[in-house]
Amino acid sequence: MEDPDSRLFKFEGYYFHNINIDTDFIETLKDFETREDDIFLVTYPKSGTIWLQQILKLIYFEEYRKNTGNLETDFQVPFFEYSNQIMDFLKMPSPRLFSTHLPYYLVPSGLKNKKAKIIYVYRNPKDIMCSYFHFSKKMPLPVTSTIEEFMKLFLEGRVMGSLWFDHIKGWYKHKNLFNIEFMMYEEMKKDLRGSIVKICKFLEKELSDEDMDAVVTQAMFENMKSDPRANYDDILKVQFGIEEKGHFLRKGTIGDWKNYMTVEQNEKFDKIFQRKMKDFPLKFIWDMNEE
Ligand code: PPS
Repeated sequence: MEDPDSRLFKFEGYYFHNINIDTDFIETLKDFETREDDIFLVTYPKSGTIWLQQILKLIYFEEYRKNTGNLETDFQVPFFEYSNQIMDFLKMPSPRLFSTHLPYYLVPSGLKNKKAKIIYVYRNPKDIMCSYFHFSKKMPLPVTSTIEEFMKLFLEGRVMGSLWFDHIKGWYKHKNLFNIEFMMYEEMKKDLRGSIVKICKFLEKELSDEDMDAVVTQAMFENMKSDPRANYDDILKVQFGIEEKGHFLRKGTIGDWKNYMTVEQNEKFDKIFQRKMKDFPLKFIWDMNEE
């Protein structure tokens, strides 16, 4: 296995990927001036970021929802910590939509005004790990050849996004500092319409039934996968020179970890999960048939 650190940049204990990053910007993230109507989508990697980016785009941009405009995700819901070199955040019209993988302690301190809104999406970490393992093979991220190797890095937090346990626990523990809504990937999978209604309520956006239908349809996995405006394939080609398709929308399901983890790996994971997440109040769904 190559040295994972060669693909990463560490700042204040948190790992960024190190491709085209602006370290000066990263060192001043906390000072970035927020607007009261900013919306930040926060995720640990592989938790459904692209899905929520699509939903936000569909909610906020009528021309996108109605298929009359080709709005690129990277510009409409840019990655806060990675996109400042390709666009000027100050020139974005309000409300600005950002996505980020940052831990709670690195986001702009203006978010603590509790006016700007944050949507935090979480997913069961076994599916995250498997999704991440596949993704990292194609991307310029630490490369591992087996799930065993990747699990070690994941459980040590030596990946972009650092340790999953710290990420979710940090955000949850400090939730009272922010105006934040927690969404669960698996609940979205089981009830997409209900989840989008919940998101709209939090964002104080009212959609007609017809518009809601359009958002739900265009946010469904198969529809996103076949929609070049939604699936990121073009962005990967331009930004990273990756020609293959289907990196961000792979399976989009619950419980795929069962196809990759051995009984032994699963037991080890469970033990660590139980120890680290003891007394953590949010529930997780590990299987498609689980309520
Ligand atoms: S990244 O690289 O961190 O931005 O990746 P991220 O977008 O957070 O996560 C990618 C996973 O989300 C799944 N996905 C979806 N699942 C269900 N429905 C929809 N519409 C959807 N869109 C994206 C995507 O397939 C990745 O999960 P896996 O398990 O790899 O399929």
